[in-house]
Amino acid sequence: MTQVMAQRGDGGAEVVVVPEAAALAREAAERFVQMAREAVEARGRFSVALAGGSTPGGAYRLLAEAPYRTRVPWEQVHIFWGDERLVPPDDPGSNYGLAQQAFIGLVPIPAENVHRVRGELKPEAAARAYELELEDYFCGPLPRLDLVILGLGSDGHTASLFPGSPLLEETSETVAVARANYQGRPAWRVTLTLPAINAARHVLFLAGGAEKAGIVAAVLGEGGGSLPAQRVCPVAGQVTWLLDRAAAAGLAGEPQGPSQQGEGS
Ligand code: 6PG
Repeated sequence: MTQVMAQRGDGGAEVVVVPEAAALAREAAERFVQMAREAVEARGRFSVALAGGSTPGGAYRLLAEAPYRTRVPWEQVHIFWGDERLVPPDDPGSNYGLAQQAFIGLVPIPAENVHRVRGELKPEAAARAYELELEDYFCGPLPRLDLVILGLGSDGHTASLFPGSPLLEETSETVAVARANYQGRPAWRVTLTLPAINAARHVLFLAGGAEKAGIVAAVLGEGGGSLPAQRVCPVAGQVTWLLDRAAAAGLAGEPQGPSQQGEGS
């Protein structure tokens, strides 16, 4: 049973804290199922942009398993990505490949419903092709995704929007080429921009592990802020932060680690 302690963060974001990684995966998978069913009920289809990185992997794998798999209306689900590395789809660094192995290749979703960034193309061509695919699906220049799943980098980046990037000032383009140099790994990427992310109906941040406690506290600790993840504030949508207890340890009201509680030596 997932124990969930919900609290409101600054700026109206919902902050949900669960005990540990497995509970984070279950809660994220459950919310995916619920949002998919609600969107299909209301609008006949569900559009979701997936995050890359390691945090969402547990939730992705659960989507291919009982009880989640059979509760998702896969025929009406359309999958996009919040960002993608510019590598071929079979490259170990591909965010598409990560999700394809975790659940997409294991569930009855029509191939035409999987809208990957074509990482095998040159940066500008990949970005343009993805932008056109979004425009085609949403019948216009601004995608209104039902759900955008985002991770949080230790520097406060999200998708491929990095601190200090000029992309943070983008006000009209929905897709851009990003030059990442994260953890010493320079790479070209394609990313949704803030206008696209902030047009979503729901943004679900996933962050887990003690190594994220500092950045989570920095991002959620005070209103406003200029870190990329702090710039995610959908105009007409809801932001939910789904954290495990270790990642939430720096937030007010959360139990601190043993050293702060005077336990141990
Ligand atoms: C990517 C992600 C990126 C990720 C963060 C957190 O392509 O890597 O989109 O924004 O979500 O770097 O990654 P972890 O979940 O591995 O900590």
